Amino acid sequence: MLSQQDLKQQAAEAALTYIEPLLSPEAVIGVGTGSTADLFIDGLARYRTQFRAAVASSERSAQRLAALGIVVLDLNEVHTMPVYVDGADEINERLHMLKGGGGALTREKIVASVAKKFVCIADESKLVQVLGRFPLPIEVLPLAREAVARVARELGGEPVLRAGFTTDNGNQILDVHGLTISDAVALEARLNQVPGVVTNGLFAARPADVALLATQQGIRQL
Ligand code: A5P
Repeated sequence: MLSQQDLKQQAAEAALTYIEPLLSPEAVIGVGTGSTADLFIDGLARYRTQFRAAVASSERSAQRLAALGIVVLDLNEVHTMPVYVDGADEINERLHMLKGGGGALTREKIVASVAKKFVCIADESKLVQVLGRFPLPIEVLPLAREAVARVARELGGEPVLRAGFTTDNGNQILDVHGLTISDAVALEARLNQVPGVVTNGLFAARPADVALLATQQGIRQL
């Protein structure tokens, strides 16, 4: 029986195999955040002479990449990326994701938006029928925290401030519990319209293009 850590490692290795044909001396690779993304970064170091640089979705990932000798660029220096690789807290069969458990959701969404392909890597426990068992993170400007929390309550959720946490952008996170997300595209748009919301952790308007899910029987590609 493989452990969850083994499965994450398998997913990371599958992503490296997947992106290898996309590597070139000009290629810039988008890199996500989290424990699965960390394993991808560690493996990416083996390929560092085969691509130009990476763009990271968090300070944490940027530091890990740089420590392994991978050049890290600011997104403003980059026009396009062949691929962005990241984990997820939940993913459904439509490849809608719920992300932001690590608090990097805003940069993740921005960096992913510039990439041609979003490759989601995860162990099979992240695959769900309906998103929302994992609390939905919303990054908010501190000034708007209570106003956004009231809207989250009106939508049926229970917002909880992530205590002692500040995002890389200097904002706060509300983790919204108790939502059953039947229409992720609509809820993503609805929440992003609330003044003071920077972004929310639904990645549905722009879902993943490919999911590489590690199972006890091997990699399942969706
Ligand atoms: C970071 O903000 C998140 O979106 C992560 O991608 C997500 O929490 C998955 O992390 P793990 O790979 O650690 O489960």
